[in-house]
Amino acid sequence: MYTWMWTLLVLSLGLGHAQRSTQEAFMMQYFERRIAQLEERLIKCEQNTQQVDQKIYDLSTKVRGQLASMEVHRTEVKTQVDNVAMRMERVERDVEYLENKTPNQPHIEVEEALMEQQMKDTQKKIVKITLGTDCNIALTGVKSLKIVKKAGDVYGSWLKDPTKGSAKIYFFSGNKNNTVLEFKSLKTFTEGRLAQAHPIQLPFPWQGTGHVVYNGFLYYHRADTPNQILKVHLLNRTVADSMLLPGVGRLPTYALTTHTFLDLAVDELGLWVIYSDPEFGGNLVITKLDKSSLAVEHTWDTTCTSRDAESAFMICGTLYVVYNSRYGGRSSIQCLYDIHDTIHSEESPVLFFPKRYTNHYSMHYHPKDKQLYAWDDGYQTIYKVDLKSKAEV
Ligand SMILES: *[C@@H]1O[C@H](CO)[C@@H](O)[C@H](O)[C@H]1NC(C)=O
Ligand SMILES: *[C@@H]1O[C@H](CO)[C@@H](O)[C@H](O)[C@H]1NC(C)=O
Repeated sequence: MYTWMWTLLVLSLGLGHAQRSTQEAFMMQYFERRIAQLEERLIKCEQNTQQVDQKIYDLSTKVRGQLASMEVHRTEVKTQVDNVAMRMERVERDVEYLENKTPNQPHIEVEEALMEQQMKDTQKKIVKITLGTDCNIALTGVKSLKIVKKAGDVYGSWLKDPTKGSAKIYFFSGNKNNTVLEFKSLKTFTEGRLAQAHPIQLPFPWQGTGHVVYNGFLYYHRADTPNQILKVHLLNRTVADSMLLPGVGRLPTYALTTHTFLDLAVDELGLWVIYSDPEFGGNLVITKLDKSSLAVEHTWDTTCTSRDAESAFMICGTLYVVYNSRYGGRSSIQCLYDIHDTIHSEESPVLFFPKRYTNHYSMHYHPKDKQLYAWDDGYQTIYKVDLKSKAEV
């Protein structure tokens, strides 16, 4: 376009040379000025385009660079996550191995230990007489798992009434409520919706996951009290009895189930409370309760820690404590405490639950069914257990 304009100008200059007048000279000046202006604008325009081009180029280089580094970052994070997962699994396995290998007996002064042992033996003899020794079974394995339902909250508990001839199921969703749902049978519970259950409104709300039903009564931790246990008649919802259990309420029973401050349990021998006492280094304490008058019969300080524990249950006067990790893993029974002193934790193998990543917030043993009714992260599951006579263990 430039050259064309110049040619035109030169031509017109050549033609009008003879009759040049002041007017023409003026015109010429005007044209020159115009052209100079146009040129200037053109140059500016070109420069602008170049700048914009440069900017776009810079930007795209930057974006490409960032994309590349993001990709690198993503790969790094993924590798790290994989590594951590692998390491965790390895540590878990190592810990299991070590705990199987090392006897966890602390060195204590022999004389003192002997004295203590003698005292305990005497105590145990007395207890044996009062409780009877006809109950003689021990847990040897957790056999199979059946997930029967997924309902309610992440936390909760459910149980089958252990009363002879009863098939009723009780369902406690969450950590605190004044309602318990009652189902006629396991079948109605499994197949039905929660709305079809019979809701029972209690005179006071319950707390935690350690409730128990026994002979038509519900025993539970009254919410917003540190240590009150209520015995409520399920038919007319009246409080039949209540008690305060000293030492309870300052620590959760199990470190991994933080809303449960007392865990009630039923076994072949009767009604129990499991709790954690800070006076006793956070170890678990078990108390046998008289179920009719709700009075303490006897208390045992166990050798099982509440640290990393998620749940526990009683079978035949033996406490079995279930441990896990905070992030959910494979649950295992790593500590037991036998009030009859027949089986011992250090001689018993670690018992694993069927492989599945779990967080058990409650477990209830049913003495007649020989099953555990467990609440696993909002799933209601049943574990069959293997039992043997204590003499064979
Ligand atoms: C109490 O339980 C009932 C029945 O399971 C449920 O509908 C309700 O949401 C619960 N309330 C709280 C506060 O969790
Ligand atoms: C509730 O029922 C039980 C058992 O039938 C009975 O012993 C008790 O007196 C009843 N309580 C009230 C207040 O009706």
